[in-house]
Amino acid sequence: MRRAIYPGSFDPVTFGHLDIIKRSSKLFDEIIVGVLNNSQKNALFSIDERVNMIKELTREYPNVRVDSFEGLLVDYAKQVDASIIIRGLRAVTDFEYELQIAQTNHVQYQNLETVFLTTSLNYSYLSSTIVREFASHGGDISRFVPAEIIPLIEDKYNRK
Ligand code: PNS
Repeated sequence: MRRAIYPGSFDPVTFGHLDIIKRSSKLFDEIIVGVLNNSQKNALFSIDERVNMIKELTREYPNVRVDSFEGLLVDYAKQVDASIIIRGLRAVTDFEYELQIAQTNHVQYQNLETVFLTTSLNYSYLSSTIVREFASHGGDISRFVPAEIIPLIEDKYNRK
């Protein structure tokens, strides 16, 4: 049973994240999308909002479940008995940070391997930060996130 965690902040989830989830669901028996509950980070969406959005958007994949975690990823991996971490690599700029985290996690927990998927070319520029930046200025985010969550994102900025 190959259980993998796809961890991240997902604030909000983008087409790039959903592409990685879809592709990894074909590679492993079970994917847990692990949404980091980081109380120190000032997130746009609450943890429940982020988890529910991803649940709705991944309903079609029977081997994908969505959960949240706090603290260290290695501890969460042990807790849910996962042996693989999935991360998307967009460009060489992601590499140094991702390598450091993957190596740190491996030193801490030798049974844990990090697998990198290269982001599809059409999403290689995309990040949650870009989505928030565009949305905060009233920009068109329809090429960045699914239509279902656009009103939720716009709502956050209209209220501010
Ligand atoms: O989507 P992000 O913000 O790039 O995801 C980063 C994430 C959640 C994968 C990373 O910050 C993480 O694993 N945080 C949990 C704390 C931890 O274990 N850090 C790595 C060891 S220094």
